[in-house]
Parts: sequence; C-alpha cells; structure tokens
Amino acid sequence: MTEKEVKDPNGKVVFKVVDHEGARFPVGVFGNVLDRLKALSEATFKDTDVFVISYPKSGTHWCYEIVDMLKNNSSEFTKHMPPLIDMLPVEKLMQVPDGVLVSHLLPQHMPKDAIQKRCKLVHIYRNPKDVIVSFFNFLKKTKEGAMMQDMEFDVFFDLYITDQLPGGLWTNYIKAWTDFKKENPTYPILNICYEKMKKDLKGHVKMIADFLELKPSEELIEEIANKCEFQTMSKFKNSNIPEGMRMVTDVRDKHIMYRKGEAGDWKNWFKVAQSEAVDAEVEAANIPLEIQYT
Ligand code: A3P
Repeated sequence: MTEKEVKDPNGKVVFKVVDHEGARFPVGVFGNVLDRLKALSEATFKDTDVFVISYPKSGTHWCYEIVDMLKNNSSEFTKHMPPLIDMLPVEKLMQVPDGVLVSHLLPQHMPKDAIQKRCKLVHIYRNPKDVIVSFFNFLKKTKEGAMMQDMEFDVFFDLYITDQLPGGLWTNYIKAWTDFKKENPTYPILNICYEKMKKDLKGHVKMIADFLELKPSEELIEEIANKCEFQTMSKFKNSNIPEGMRMVTDVRDKHIMYRKGEAGDWKNWFKVAQSEAVDAEVEAANIPLEIQYT
C-alpha cells in the first residue's frame, strides 16, 4: 500500500491518497487504512444492525436521519455525527445504541460479520453530476481538502473523470454494489434514489419502514417526512452542529453537510463536454439502476 500524491495541472499537491484492493482512501482522515479494515473485519455486529451505505455526497446524512428516526420510533433529530464505520474506531461503533451505522466502503471492505449476519443495507444513490458538484463544494470546506481550497471546478472535474480523487469513480462504487446484489440476489439491500426521494419523501419513509419491517403509525411517517424536508432539517442541523464536526472541518458557523439539497444543481456548474463525459462513463458502466438528473 503506497501513498500517492494527487497534483493539479500546476504540479501543486492537492490530495494524498492510498489505493487498496480497488478502493481509494484519503490519507490522514481515516488513520491507517489497513489497520482500520482489519479491525472492521474482526468486529462483530448484531443481525439487527442496519447500514446506510452510499458513495459520498449522495444524501447519506438525510437517509441516516430517516432510518434512525424509524428505528427509534421517533421524529427527533439526532445531535451526533452519523457513525461512519470507515472513520470511527471499532470500540466506538460497538457503543452505537440504536444499531444504525453508515458506510462508504465497497462490498469487499464491509465488515465480514455484518455481511454474514445479513445486516440490512439501505443504499442511497444520487446522479453522479450532482454528486461531483456537491463533493467539490464540500471538500473545499474540509480539512481533507485543505490543499484544494482555491481550486476551480474544471480542475476538480478533470481529477474526477481521470479517476484520481479520493473515493474513486462513482460508477466504480455503484457497479461494485449492483454486482454484489447480482451475486447475492437474496441479500437485503434497498436502493433509494435521491431524486425520487425528494419528489416523494413520505412514500420513501414508508418504503424504508417496510424494508426494515417496522410498523410506524401514519402520523409518525408524516412527521418524519416533514422534519426531513431539506429546509427544516438543515435549519435544525445548522443550529446543532455536533462536536465531532471539528475533526472534519474548521467551519464553525454552519453545518457543511447541508448546502442546497437540490436535484439538478449540476446544470449551474457543468460544461456540455463535462456532462457528456459523465454520460459516457455511466453508459460504459451499464448501471442497472434508474438515474435521474433533475
Ligand atoms: P448538496 O451539496 O448538493 O446540497 P452526504 O450526506 O452523503 O454527504 O450528502 C450531502 C448532500 O445531501 C448535500 O447536497 C446536502 O445538501 C444533501 N442533503 C442533506 N440533507 C438533505 C435533505 N433533507 N434533503 C435533500 N438533500 C439533502
């Protein structure tokens, strides 16, 4: 496992990453990746644990909040950071009281015990163009992105499309998980499309509850859907920033995970050629999921 420097066109180092078994991890954020993956592979989970899985910037926090509310039979917002298994020490994961966890890992790096126990996976995916825009704006505000704070979008896009960014290509992540499902057809995974959930939040809260075999009241479903609309949720989150965000960012006056929460913002950022390059990437990967760009 060797550390690589990612450079911009002027030769300035903008990220440090490590490639490992088909995945690319940022250096310095998650500690030693191999140690972490080893600890995860030896950790034990409960068969009732639920994992919200996603490529970063796909609406992970949104989906986590809904799953967490449903599992707790409540419409109270959480005040902590979602327990990201890629990042938190295993001892901390074991203390998560309600068994809702979050992961950006590829299938081969998921904890073996959780997969053997067939823990339910709620996979939220979002169109890759909005993901790239969201990622660009997010990384600039993070400690991980400290070296790319003055980067133009076009430079970031080129690093993405030439597969140099931490996290790798969106298609690589989506394909890995859709292949996993093809090879394990009875494994319980629910695919949630970000754009569809925006259009019908209540219907998706109900869909997630059914998948988790929970029976919330109609009133609770309604309340969760109302609370998790972007305006209401981001207002709460911006005035209740968890202490743990200090590890991720130096921004203190707002919660950097909540920006616009829209479908189609990519149209304000993408050039035609960039849009076509992503279309070509997606077409070549032959993704068996419906992708909505607005
Ligand atoms: P934008 O940067 O486009 O606004 P993640 O949680 O995976 O990091 O994803 C972050 C993205 O999800 C951000 O996108 C954020 O605004 C959006 N998001 C967060 N809460 C949301 C909500 N309640 N409804 C819609 N989008 C939401």
